[in-house]
Order: sequence, then structure tokens, then C-alpha cells
Amino acid sequence: LTARLVVDDDFEVAPVNNRLFGSFVEHLGRCVYTGIYEPDHPTADEHGFRKDVIDLVKELGATTIRYPGGNFVSGYRWEDGIGPKQERPRRLDLAWHSTETNEFGLHEMAEWLEATGGNELMEAVNLGTRGLQEALDLLEYANVPGGTELSERRRANGADKPFDIRMWCLGNEMDGPWQLGHKSAEDYGMLAASVAAGMRQIDPDVELVVCGSSAHGMPTFGKWEQTVLEKTYENVNFVSCHAYYQPFFKEDGTRDMASFLASGVDMDGFIKDVAATIDATKAHLKSAHDVYISFDEWNVWYQGEEPSKTPEGIGNWPVAPRLLEDIYTAADAVVFGDLMITLLKNADRVRAASLAQLVNVIAPIMTEPGGPAWRQTTFHPFSVTARLAKGGTVLEPKLSAGTVDTPRYGEVDGVNAVAVRCADGSLAVFAVNRSLEATAEFEIRLQDGAQPASVEAQTLHDDDLFAANTLYDQNRVTPHANGSAMYDAESGVVRVSLPPVSWTALHIK
Ligand code: AHR
Repeated sequence: LTARLVVDDDFEVAPVNNRLFGSFVEHLGRCVYTGIYEPDHPTADEHGFRKDVIDLVKELGATTIRYPGGNFVSGYRWEDGIGPKQERPRRLDLAWHSTETNEFGLHEMAEWLEATGGNELMEAVNLGTRGLQEALDLLEYANVPGGTELSERRRANGADKPFDIRMWCLGNEMDGPWQLGHKSAEDYGMLAASVAAGMRQIDPDVELVVCGSSAHGMPTFGKWEQTVLEKTYENVNFVSCHAYYQPFFKEDGTRDMASFLASGVDMDGFIKDVAATIDATKAHLKSAHDVYISFDEWNVWYQGEEPSKTPEGIGNWPVAPRLLEDIYTAADAVVFGDLMITLLKNADRVRAASLAQLVNVIAPIMTEPGGPAWRQTTFHPFSVTARLAKGGTVLEPKLSAGTVDTPRYGEVDGVNAVAVRCADGSLAVFAVNRSLEATAEFEIRLQDGAQPASVEAQTLHDDDLFAANTLYDQNRVTPHANGSAMYDAESGVVRVSLPPVSWTALHIK
């Protein structure tokens, strides 16, 4: 397998928006409780936040954090999570059949974000069981400096300054029949339009995300976006996309790894389809306004498998059960790295993204209650990409690659890659080899006149595709220096060998 990428600074896709490295904290399983918040943990600070987790979140490089859901938000009363903790009610969480203690709420989230280095909050409002008035109340509570009942209540609760939240999600996955308060595109579009207009009457500069489809394969996909955007276009800034990938079983009972490794192809098609719908709506409405994509849930998720089974029974509503605690493999990390490459390649349309989720729940960071925190395999492509690409500019991906055959997507590029001109002028190239068998000989043609002093490459690959990092073996899968990377001055190319099923980051300085 061979592949060639041509680097040309004259052709840019877009600056890398830091919000592409967002993540997601939902009140789900152990993401909040015993994830980021565990007052009895040996590393807990005065707020009850686990410092070991804060350190890993900083190392991960996550930026904007979407909160508090997810499906959870569609039944959430935000007022339950404010005021003295001992007075906060215990509630049923219908989304995850759990008990929500409300020990952690908006103020705790804002404090935790401060502790992680000032990350941005992206707040979701409940448009499942609630509507316009409650969204307005929350916005008043969060963003109005003072002098009104709700803003003064915030101040009395200890936050003198407003939280000044810029990004707001208008509900969550309202197209999904599983969603509490699920609506038709018509009904949701009407509601989202009135909530968006009302919120702007309080704070005209908020950035609003309207719900797109909860998967590319939803039966209503396409028509949903069209209907919702028609009604909300002028008053929103983003439409959301959500996508989760997993290796499905073939008829012979084995998993279709070839298609799984090409998941980036589906994500790319999803983005292109939604971008086309945005453009069509803009043209149809004769609008001068631009709407971007917030890819605010993406990941590998073994949905429907054992760890994702929600509790059952009228008397069984556990607090912070172990839910969606997927253990990621080396192959999962390669697919994950491919999804990050795909987001970068589409940085002109995707201006925000949230890795779902951050801790314990389909997460790059795992914890044990009272015990350690560690990095899943997927942690590594995220942290390396975030470190190198933040502040940079994505260059147009002029890529030619040999193909691999997949049952789901047919023939696809065997290598996916993107180049980013880094903030300091150096060059980062991210690449995956999607082939199950072949090594890819990858060549990067540098800009004429480039004379790099050094080429560093790190590759994540394991001969065992299913190798994982666990409590007992926390660093089994990590990136390693790839010694094959070299600069050939005569031909002006960087060459590197990419093992089958691998993710590589090159830093060319
Ligand atoms: O991230 C897990 C769940 O996936 C979210 O709660 C929901 O929005 C999506 O279906």
C-alpha cells in the first residue's frame, strides 16, 4: 500500500478552532460521580474534585465541555443543582434509570472548569420535558450580572460574576424516539425557533446549537435538518451532528473490522451531507448568515453491548452505576484517530466538536472509586493531535492513496491523512493506515524550499488489535517513536512506514 500527501501552504482549509477539541460531561453513570467528583478520594480538593482526573484532563488538552447531557438533559431541572447541597432533591433520571443526587450542578461545573485551567462551558437546555420559560430562566440565572430575582439568586449562591456562557445547545437528540419528549422535526423546529429568539432577547450574542440528527443513519436524516434549519436558520449558529462507530458482526459471526477501520468515510459523508443542507437552506432563504456544524457527540461506542445496559425495575434506581464503561482497544484508537483527522479536514464547516464523553462513560480517562485514574488507548491520539494542532491552520489535503476494500463502504482510501501548519510554523501530519494486512509506505511532499531540521514520528499500533489499557495494565497501548521516519533532502519528501491498523503523528520542524 502506498500513499502520498502534498503540503502546499497556498491552499488552506481553515484555522483550527480550539473548540474542535471539546469534550462532554453528562450526568450518566460515573462520569460526574466518582469520575470528576469524588469528595472522599485521596486526591480530592476542597470542592471534592479529583485532582488526578484534573491533571489528566489538562494533559488530554480538552477545551469546551458540553454539559449536563445528553439524554439526561431532557428530564433535568437545572434548579435542582443549585443552592445548599443538603437541600438539593434526589430525582429519578429517566434517561439512564438512575438516581440523580444533584450534589453536583451548574456552580460545581463552573468551578471544576476553572480548576481545569479555564475551559469553556457549553450548556444544554432541556427541551424534552421543558421549554421556553425554563431556558430563559437558566440563561438569566447564568448570564445576567445582577439586579433580578434569578441573577441575584446566583450571586447569593456564591457566583458574584455571571458565568457568561456563550454556547448553548437547544435540547439534545430531539429526533431520537428514545429521547424524553421526542418531537417531530416540525414541532422541534417551532420550539427551537422560539427558544432561540427568546434567548437572544436576553443575550443577543449567545451562540446557539440546534439539534441535527443523532446519527447519519437515522430514518429522518436529511429531512430533519432541512425542516429544522428552515425554521431556525437566522437565529442559530450551529447545527449538531452525533456519530458513534463500532465493528458490527458479519453473517459468519466475526466482526467487520475492515468497515470499522473506514468509519472516517462515513463521518466525512455525514459532514458533507449536512453542509449541503446548510448551503441549500441559506440559498433558499436568501440569507447572508452562516451556520456551522457542532459535531458535539463523536466516538467509538459498543452501543447495545453489556456495559451499556441500563438498570431496570421500579425499585431499582442506583446512584452512579457503572454504565457505558467501554474498554478501548488499539484498533479503536486507530479509528478514533481517523475520526479526528476527518474533523480537521472539515475544519471549514465543523467549528466545534465534543468527544463523548470525558471520564468513565465511553471515555479517554478511566477511574476507580478511591483508586487510580488512567488513560485509555483513545486518550493518546486526542492528546497528541490537540497539542500539535491547536492554534494551527489545516492545509488542503492533497492526498492520493491506494485503496482497501470494505463490505460497508466499498473501496476506500487505505490511508487517511491531514497536514496542519502549527502555530509555531512547524508542520504536523496525522495519518492512519486502515489496512488490516499491509504496511503503507507514506510519502509527504514538503513545500518547495522546506529544509526541516528534524522529523519526529510517533505511532500507535499493536500486533494485537484488541490490546487495551486496564486497571491492571494501564500503559499497555501507547504511541512509540517510529524509527522509519526520515527526510530525503534530494527529493524533498518525508517518508515513513505505517504498520497495518495504525495511527501516526509526524512533527516536522
Ligand atoms: O453519549 C451517550 C448518549 O449518546 C447521550 O446521552 C446521547 O445524547 C447519545 O445518544
